[in-house]
Amino acid sequence: MSIGKKKSEAEVKAGLDAGLAAGLDWKSGRVFAYAYDPGEDVRRVAQNAYAQFAYENALDPTVFPGLLQFEREIGAKLLNHLNAPENAGAIYTSGGTESCMLGVRSALRCAQEKRPRLTAPELVLSNTTHPAFHKAANYFGIKVVIVDVDAKTAAPTAEAIAAAINERTVAVIASAPSYAHGVIDPVEAIAKVCREKDIWLHVDACVGGMLLPYYRELGRPIPAFDFSVPGVESISIDLHKYGYTPKGVSFILHRDRNNQRFQRFTHTDWTGYTFVNQAMQSSRLGGPLAAAWAVLNYVGDEGYLDISRRMIADTDRLIAGIKAVDGLDIFGDPQFSMVAFYTTDGTDALVVADEMSMRGFQLQGQIGNRGLPSTVHVSLHQGNGRQIDAFIQALNESMAAARIHCASQTGGASELINDELIEHLATAEDPTPVIEGLFTAVGLGDGKLPERTAAIFNLLDRFPAQIRNRILSDFAGKIYDPSTAR
Ligand SMILES: Cc1ncc(COP(=O)(O)O)c(C=O)c1O
Repeated sequence: MSIGKKKSEAEVKAGLDAGLAAGLDWKSGRVFAYAYDPGEDVRRVAQNAYAQFAYENALDPTVFPGLLQFEREIGAKLLNHLNAPENAGAIYTSGGTESCMLGVRSALRCAQEKRPRLTAPELVLSNTTHPAFHKAANYFGIKVVIVDVDAKTAAPTAEAIAAAINERTVAVIASAPSYAHGVIDPVEAIAKVCREKDIWLHVDACVGGMLLPYYRELGRPIPAFDFSVPGVESISIDLHKYGYTPKGVSFILHRDRNNQRFQRFTHTDWTGYTFVNQAMQSSRLGGPLAAAWAVLNYVGDEGYLDISRRMIADTDRLIAGIKAVDGLDIFGDPQFSMVAFYTTDGTDALVVADEMSMRGFQLQGQIGNRGLPSTVHVSLHQGNGRQIDAFIQALNESMAAARIHCASQTGGASELINDELIEHLATAEDPTPVIEGLFTAVGLGDGKLPERTAAIFNLLDRFPAQIRNRILSDFAGKIYDPSTAR
């Protein structure tokens, strides 16, 4: 028996401060992914609300009717925001992935009800669709059919989607926008196909749902992507990204509230309480929900318009600055404030991301896929604006440094990989020792986190997907190994 000796409040605080200091300083405006900074006053409002409800539970609305009311009110706001009809429904989830999974779950069970003889269900999506949908397919036993996006626009065409649909298809996914390149799929054209074929269309507006309507209001040419488009059955929308609320809040919206029964789970055949779950979580966190309610009300349309106005100006500056860097260009036609750039002179884009990281700017390297180039992802939030000039200067330096780095790289860990090794990993009963050897070769022996990631991504890229996934999974197992803290 032991969870450790009691510590004083001061000792606990020191530990928490150290934990914070170990992470990236996203409030500096130099982190262009993961965190979305609303500014000091909104943070204060959110944190107070979060703390007030940290111990409440949205599992049982009869015990915590206040949280039920927050959920209803946020739901109503989001449905108005995205032009939903009267009979629409909205449920709070823990994040984008849960909302996306519930959209797929609803579509699957709806199809099973309509088509009782349906076997081997399929999900149609594109290679820019977020992995949350692959996860849903994996969890719910659905085969994924991937449509390649157009190599210039980075969006799928409705024709390609139509060609991928068959009698086993349970849903089609469109993104508004895609995470990787910030490109909005042609939702109207895709919805027309789905209506003709009576297929459920889920629009993933996890990143775009909150601000795209404001961008349109401010004159940006944002195509229709929400419930104003007939045929859109469900939408995932995150508040913990561009709604600027603390982490842990997303909503799954249904055009027809009756369809929520497909995602709901109830159970009474046991000795305990009556089990009714709206989402995948059972106990649902009160803190994030209350904080989201507080932030939406405190910021309001005026605040989100103001944030959007600044983000639009910042995005234009950012894109112009990136395009002006010799050897770089923007990929696709991003309509929001998430962009991806690629190199036009053969320099490894992933090395550019590493070089930016060494200059204090956190971006995400993205491995190329199915004919699309490797890119570097930049998610811009309203707190990044003040760093854009410094960003562009660092980007010029990073390109120069990356050229030198790439020219000086020979062999290294990538020399270890040959057909024999790949074959061995694919067929070995237990590939763990070989994978361990690879980790050691690239300097990740003791669950250490990598400083430069390009070499590792490029190494991974040389393996077939199945082995790549196994290596990633083993790596995750390594870094989450609690024995390092025992
Ligand atoms: C388009 C899109 N969908 C879904 C998700 C998953 O969201 P979460 O990380 O909140 O689970 C993301 C996350 O970045 C996303 O960008």
